[in-house]
Amino acid sequence: EKGTYPYYMLKEIDEQPLVIRRLIEKYRNEQGELAIDEDIVQAINEADRLYIVACGTSYHAGLVGKQLIENWAKIPVEVHIASEFSYNMPLLSEKPLFIYISQSGETADSRAVLVRTKELGCKSLTITNVPGSTLSREADYTLLLHAGPEIAVASTKAYTAQIAVLAMLAAVAAKAKGIALDVDVTKELGIVANAMETLCDAKHEMENIAREYLATTRNCFFIGRAVDYYVVLEGALKLKEISYIQAEGFAGGELKHGTIALIEKGTPVIALATQEHVNLSIRGNVKEVVARGANPCIISMKGLDMEDDRFVIPAVHPMLTPLASVVPLQLIAYYAALHRGCDVDKPRNLAKSVTVE
Ligand code: M6R
Repeated sequence: EKGTYPYYMLKEIDEQPLVIRRLIEKYRNEQGELAIDEDIVQAINEADRLYIVACGTSYHAGLVGKQLIENWAKIPVEVHIASEFSYNMPLLSEKPLFIYISQSGETADSRAVLVRTKELGCKSLTITNVPGSTLSREADYTLLLHAGPEIAVASTKAYTAQIAVLAMLAAVAAKAKGIALDVDVTKELGIVANAMETLCDAKHEMENIAREYLATTRNCFFIGRAVDYYVVLEGALKLKEISYIQAEGFAGGELKHGTIALIEKGTPVIALATQEHVNLSIRGNVKEVVARGANPCIISMKGLDMEDDRFVIPAVHPMLTPLASVVPLQLIAYYAALHRGCDVDKPRNLAKSVTVE
């Protein structure tokens, strides 16, 4: 039930802090330590390479997951769009483990890959919000997102839950391999949940940004570097999906290789700046587009913020910033769609789960 909310999407955005806190509880043992089914951890650590397969928003979560698993557990990860994998299969490693990420657990493109990799004898893990879903039943192992039903077509709380589960998986896999992490993931996720709450309380600011930048625009660019690049892909998908504004996410450094030709006077460019090692370079990219007339909106993280930033998100662990930085992008998309009179929960031409290949 959406209660007093005008749309499920807004309710689901607001539920994110609660979902993260619930996940911390669900993936903890009696001693209060992070814990994941030992068979899953063993399967991960026996693999020489992980293949994440997913579509849409779940694919974007997979990109963030790659970063987490490679950094913390030191296992190589490839992330594939399911529909491409089916028809253009990459060379597989000797001991691959497949991870299917799917909110619904019913996405036909992902299932087609699962069927194929099972035929090849590969082990599989599904990360899904729906217990008993097809992908969950057909894979060897399942990790649940515990996000509660996601009704809006635009995925929000499932995305952040997917990243949180991947972060916990990466930390547990690292520990099982004897890698000493200097991060207490449970504690850091608690900080993330608080940051998300602060961000959800700043809705009016996101509404202002949507009104100021997106009320009448034809297009909008999102830029980011490092993990921010993955988050801007998601921000752009959210915006185009529900507001029908032509939106694309780009790696900051890639703009000058072609896309910058599209920048005109007043073109909105939303830039994320949450990563210290690329803070100056992403700001350099913003200067490049401003010089061509763009209307920049920099969303940065506390501690890395500079004068003229349009919005500053609370500081969280640098590896977990997507969980916080996506919230303003979800809200900006929501208000842009709302102001433009779109049906936020049921955008045209789309279904909640895509059950055809
Ligand atoms: O249920 P799934 O996670 O497998 O769905 C995958 C995509 O269809 C889905 O994430 C889609 O991109 C969303 N509508 C994006 O908001």
